[in-house]
Amino acid sequence: MPSPFHLGWFLQGSSVQAWGEPWTGAIGRDWMMPELFCDMARSLERACFDYVLIEDSSYVGESFGGSTEVYLKHGIAVPRQDPAITATLMAAATTRIGIVPTFATFTHPPYLLARMIASLDQVSAGRIGWNMVTGSSDVAARNYGLDRLPEHDLRYDMADEYMQVVNGLWDSWEPGAIRADEESGALVDPTKVHAVDFEGRWFRTHGPLNSGPCPQGRPVIAQAGGSPRGRQFAAQYADTIVASIKGTAGMKAYRDDVRARAAAAGRNPDHVKVLYLVNPCLGETREEAEARLAARKARAERQVPQLLAFFGKITNIDFTKYDLDAPVDTLDLRTNGHQQSLDDFRRVAGKKPLREALLAYRGSSGSVELVGTPDAVAGQMAEAMEAVGGDGFLISMSDVSRRTVAEVADGLVPALQRRGLARRAYAHAQFRDNLLEF
Ligand SMILES: Cc1cc2nc3c(=O)[nH]c(=O)nc-3n(C[C@H](O)[C@H](O)[C@H](O)COP(=O)(O)O)c2cc1C
Repeated sequence: MPSPFHLGWFLQGSSVQAWGEPWTGAIGRDWMMPELFCDMARSLERACFDYVLIEDSSYVGESFGGSTEVYLKHGIAVPRQDPAITATLMAAATTRIGIVPTFATFTHPPYLLARMIASLDQVSAGRIGWNMVTGSSDVAARNYGLDRLPEHDLRYDMADEYMQVVNGLWDSWEPGAIRADEESGALVDPTKVHAVDFEGRWFRTHGPLNSGPCPQGRPVIAQAGGSPRGRQFAAQYADTIVASIKGTAGMKAYRDDVRARAAAAGRNPDHVKVLYLVNPCLGETREEAEARLAARKARAERQVPQLLAFFGKITNIDFTKYDLDAPVDTLDLRTNGHQQSLDDFRRVAGKKPLREALLAYRGSSGSVELVGTPDAVAGQMAEAMEAVGGDGFLISMSDVSRRTVAEVADGLVPALQRRGLARRAYAHAQFRDNLLEF
């Protein structure tokens, strides 16, 4: 019997991600309302997903020709609501699935973050994760009163210290601190709640955390940075990693590297679940799935400026400066933003012209191409996992809608379950326990 793998959903943004998609209701009129996301969380819980991760950034892009125009006109990561709000509503709409909002270390002081995440963990009965990001844009930095973000590797050094602070705050309540002893009238055992008094290079805090403890002790930590420094960070702290690498050889090398780093840091590598982004294209027949893939690719070809604007937003590169026919290996592309994404783009691009390379990289597929009937795609996922070694997939659809979510939750997942590749029921009440189930 094959062993099951983990499933998550990488939700790109809130509210507007389904803009322009059919089968999603009146998203243009109702974009402020959370029903689409709550329905999605309920559907994914029906399919026993480990988690839904709410991706985020807190600025309006202006990397494309130095203007906000293309971002605003096409709803590229704007408008988007604060992920803490979406996460709260999703938690209220569900009972078992893990929910992982994204917050950057430069936007929230550690105490604020630790308290907010602990509160969410409490109201969700132990189902919260934090997607820990260090930020990638100077435009965002300016929204928070900074001139620019610190340099790439320094951001991770600062994040190391940030983790010490928030872990100290989450640990400031020992297990058993809540007594709720009606006889003596004592709610909390004061001997089990401690100050933190952390004084570091960048952060200071007193503590203890006034929200009380997280039901999970510490929340689940997710992280996505894939540069060598990012992997080092993830290997030390992450329970789950969002990985975006093209091809099973690269996927395997990435996972092997993270696992080796985790072991070297004294952790059990099986406690770090690497999930790969994929964008499956499903149909009732192979022909229908291929026709939908062709339509998806044709749409990407019409949206080259938007795709470049998005890639420019996460790398801070103004792609309007480059000729679309210029071979990528002749361009001087550098970033203080998503380094690993840019490296992977260069690797996939080789000598291809920019336009072609972009379509190959961002046009349709994800880490591996998944196209066909639910059963065929389940087989393709099994093959990829066999080659890579584990640990699962994060679905991230370019054409998300109520229809495509249902195709995954009620088509693909049952096909995976029939092959023993996905869980049929949650074994545990809390998020981390489910992540560690296999
Ligand atoms: C697949 C993927 C998803 C990411 N999601 C977010 C996000 O939601 N918000 C954010 O600010 N950064 C996000 N990041 C950025 C990373 O957390 C990290 O800050 C950035 O990639 C720079 O690190 P690196 O050079 O180590 O990859 C993402 C990165 C990747 C590769």
